[in-house]
Amino acid sequence: MEATTLTKPATLTLSGAAGQIGYSLLFRVAAGEIFGPNTPVRLRMLEAPQAVRAAAGVAMELQDAASPLVAGIEVTADPRVAFEGANHAILVGARPRTAGMERSDLLESNGAIFGPQGRAINDVAADDVRILVIGNPANTNAMIAAAHAPDIPRDRFTALTRLDHNRAVAQLAARTSVNVREIRRVTIWGNHSRTQYPDVRHATVAGRPALEMVGAEWAEGVFIDTVAQRGAAIIEARGGSSVASTATAIIDHVRDRRFGLPDPADWTSTALVSDGSYGVPEGLVSSFPVRPVDGNWEIVQGLEIDEFSRARIDASVAELQEERAAVADLGLI
Ligand code: NAD
Ligand code: LMR
Repeated sequence: MEATTLTKPATLTLSGAAGQIGYSLLFRVAAGEIFGPNTPVRLRMLEAPQAVRAAAGVAMELQDAASPLVAGIEVTADPRVAFEGANHAILVGARPRTAGMERSDLLESNGAIFGPQGRAINDVAADDVRILVIGNPANTNAMIAAAHAPDIPRDRFTALTRLDHNRAVAQLAARTSVNVREIRRVTIWGNHSRTQYPDVRHATVAGRPALEMVGAEWAEGVFIDTVAQRGAAIIEARGGSSVASTATAIIDHVRDRRFGLPDPADWTSTALVSDGSYGVPEGLVSSFPVRPVDGNWEIVQGLEIDEFSRARIDASVAELQEERAAVADLGLI
């Protein structure tokens, strides 16, 4: 048998490491699902002080999993220790909403977490650090983190909308009775909230235009509502917000950015700091169609935006602008 050549270890810092998503994600990272079978990973587990003991328990379990890819595990409540030399900062640590809450209800309590973490990443992370925010309201929290990290290029900051993207792909596949691998070029625009715009106008199903197959009534009605309100539906049904599907989406996001999409002609969705593309005001963290290029996400340019899409994108962007104004009033940016 040939000996495996291992690459240099990656350092991944996960905030909220003792929480639900952390518990689901960490063991999959340890099994090589993000970085592949040849890249060891140093795990830095950041928690709130009151949850450090629980995180230490998760660290014990990770040790007990005896993964050959784990090159170190550290638990801390100090962001400056946690982000030291981090190549990947995955920011999950924040309170989830419960039944009846909107994500915007979390602005004040969770927003305050992301300024200090952004500053610490700015000061101590590795030069190639990439930041992915999951804690809600994810887009605006990513904007807050970026605002406190002036030395880090804007295109390194993202907020997760891959879960919404995956939900949209799955709904379209179910509606057209195909395997998800036949779906291409779905887009999530805007905020990771109920105002998001899941868009199939450029999508194909087994090579055929999706809109022709599903019809405008479904694409503009049931489809958008189902995807945009899936988070709430899961909270109602499960009694808690999405966990395992979120961990899957985090893995998909980081893996595809590093290794490329299975079909390079396809695209996926992520929220990133707008450069003004598609009329989204600069600086807002909004979801776009994206492709990985040299380890970064690039917005797919030149898509035609019809009147329906324009109105839906603008409505979600208006919500992002309100969130930006609210966190500015709170002194968070
Ligand atoms: P959870 O309550 O199980 O875990 C959150 C963890 O964060 C807790 O262990 C808590 O102690 C920790 N935490 C709180 N403040 C912290 C801080 N300052 N530093 C480090 N850790 C801190 O929640 P969960 O189910 O894991 O969800 C976490 C977040 O992810 C929520 O805000 C949820 O709404 C969000 N979420 C986002 C998406 C998305 O697609 N963007 C999907 C699902 C959940
Ligand atoms: C989700 O989309 O499932 C999460 O963001 C949780 C939520 O509050 O909806």
